[in-house]
Amino acid sequence: MGKNVVVLGSQWGDEGKGKIVDLLTECVQGVVRFQGGHNAGHTLVVDGKKTVLHLLPSGILHPGVVCMIGNGVVLSLPELQKEMALLESSGVAVQSQLKISGACPLVMPYHVALDLARETKRGVRLIGTTGRGIGPAYEDKVARRSIRFADLLDTAHFAELLQENLDYHNFILKNYFMTSTFDYTQIYEETLAQADALLPMMADIPMLIVAHRQQGHSLLFEGAQGTFLDIDHGTYPYVTSSNTTAGGASTGSGLGPRYIDYVLGITKAYTTRVGSGPFPTELTGALGDALVEHGREFGATTGRRRRCGWFDAVAMRRAAEINSLSGLCMTKLDVLDTFDTIQIAVAYEKGADNIYGRTPVKPVYEEMPGWKTPIAGIDSWAKLPEKAKAYIKRIENLLEVPVVMVSTGPERKNTIQLAPIF
Ligand code: GDP
Ligand code: IMO
Ligand code: MG
Repeated sequence: MGKNVVVLGSQWGDEGKGKIVDLLTECVQGVVRFQGGHNAGHTLVVDGKKTVLHLLPSGILHPGVVCMIGNGVVLSLPELQKEMALLESSGVAVQSQLKISGACPLVMPYHVALDLARETKRGVRLIGTTGRGIGPAYEDKVARRSIRFADLLDTAHFAELLQENLDYHNFILKNYFMTSTFDYTQIYEETLAQADALLPMMADIPMLIVAHRQQGHSLLFEGAQGTFLDIDHGTYPYVTSSNTTAGGASTGSGLGPRYIDYVLGITKAYTTRVGSGPFPTELTGALGDALVEHGREFGATTGRRRRCGWFDAVAMRRAAEINSLSGLCMTKLDVLDTFDTIQIAVAYEKGADNIYGRTPVKPVYEEMPGWKTPIAGIDSWAKLPEKAKAYIKRIENLLEVPVVMVSTGPERKNTIQLAPIF
């Protein structure tokens, strides 16, 4: 019997999902992206070669594995083309592995302009988006006016939809944001030209998933962003515009919820966040700088410096529940190598139990001794220092979720597997 395993971020994104999906792909026949768009940046390192993926599922480096882009993803055709060209030039057979849902709403050039104009208008209250047009593309989806990938099959229908969308968005760009507008003919021609090479990869993803199940295959469902960037369960309005939590794996792909066998939460050994919004355990001084430096905490998509802080067990307990986590993978443990002591937030002051209020919460910390030994690249539990093991075990106790994998470096092989997932 095959297994359907969801891999998702349990913090604010960039937990190392890409690395883990790439590693686990050896156990599956297919990998499905189910939400987000090219705001994601998933880093894979195999034998020293680094690949950053934005739209392509992180199983793409394994020949023969089917990579699916589900209906929950917002799709930028030019960005997908760019990403494919780059990988194909290094010998990856993307075309033969990739299947794209016809129901994906397209990210159009005016979405990018709207994203940037909104951020400017918000001034100091800006979200700190990736500026990729993701929010406005999802708005069009919910407003039932999106141009979806399958709409490009019928050029007359596409022409009509584009005209309606441009009339509406150009009006807003011009009269509300006082900024430049878009030319119909140019977008029409560019979009159809981009679609030519991509439309042959269109597929009925839900039925493809059924076919895999019937053949006893295993599939991975790759989340983008992280739990607290979820549009419903995150630190709204400082969130992305999709459901990043486990339920999104179903709605964003067509996999029935009863067919999810395992939910693997990826968490850093500490916490990071890019963009604005609450972050109770954030470290702004020298300790924060040390985490940025040792963890090379700069965004894979925008290059922005990530905000860093200690592990937040209170937020993580919520993440464990919302996602019904079966197991945890703790990444970047090696980044804590040099710290004399390491803190874990175990509660918030004044009885606050969540991060959603208007007043910032103050964490209550528990201190643990650092191991002060380099652990980069260690691939077995036995070789880990006792203090590092104690740190992992304490977090496991606090969250009541087993840690089934530990990552000690960016390379695929810098990983400790503690319990089977498949
Ligand atoms: P994703 O968005 O969740 O896939 O994560 P990103 O790729 O945006 O960010 C994770 C970064 O940490 C990447 O640069 C990875 O190469 C790197 N990384 C992943 N796991 C480890 C680890 O265990 N140790 C170290 N030092 N780096 C890691
Ligand atoms: P991966 O998949 C970290 C953040 C942005 C911003 C907010 C909204 O690599 O973990 P958006 O452009 O989505 O409207 O921005 O969400 N954000 C991410 N942060 N990792 C990501 O993806 C992110 N994708 C979006 O920084 O705060
Ligand atoms: Mg990332």
